[in-house]
Amino acid sequence: MNPETTIGVLFVCLGNICRSPVAEGTFAQLVRERGLADRFHIDSCGTAAYHVGQPANATSRQVAREAGIELTSRARQFALSDFTGFHYILTMDRSNYDGVLGHASAAQDRERVFMFRAFEALTGPPPPDFVPRRVAVDVPDPYYGGRDGFEEVQRIVSRTAAKLLDYLVARHRLVP
Ligand code: 4NP
Repeated sequence: MNPETTIGVLFVCLGNICRSPVAEGTFAQLVRERGLADRFHIDSCGTAAYHVGQPANATSRQVAREAGIELTSRARQFALSDFTGFHYILTMDRSNYDGVLGHASAAQDRERVFMFRAFEALTGPPPPDFVPRRVAVDVPDPYYGGRDGFEEVQRIVSRTAAKLLDYLVARHRLVP
């Protein structure tokens, strides 16, 4: 991995066991399918430490597996060093967004932070002047609900991750 040319993308939720592992695994799969794995450094984390060291939630893993995606993450908490390690810090909901921004100490930290679903607004290849909004709707937290909620997370993440990758390919002029 060459840090000069590698694009760091970090997905953030609360516990790092339900939503952000799905985003990490789904985005990484799309990147591999596009032949761009060596251009990205992809990870996920949580704003809270409750589940540090744990694999993704069993229902998240099952739903992802049915979509052809293996989730291999182990939960970790967001760290200040993530502001320099990752170019794009994409939060699953508004609470995570506010939590991450609360740790930012410089404009260059803040400008890396977006809500993941800001990229869902794209239809087709992004126009050259497309500027993603920072704030968007939440990826709903499935933790306290049934399997339906986890399936909804996978659907939201699958369509948004594809649009995010289209944006990054255009913005960074990536070719396989
Ligand atoms: P996640 O879901 O933020 O998508 O990983 C949650 C995981 C754990 C808890 C809440 C949400 N919790 O309260 O322990």
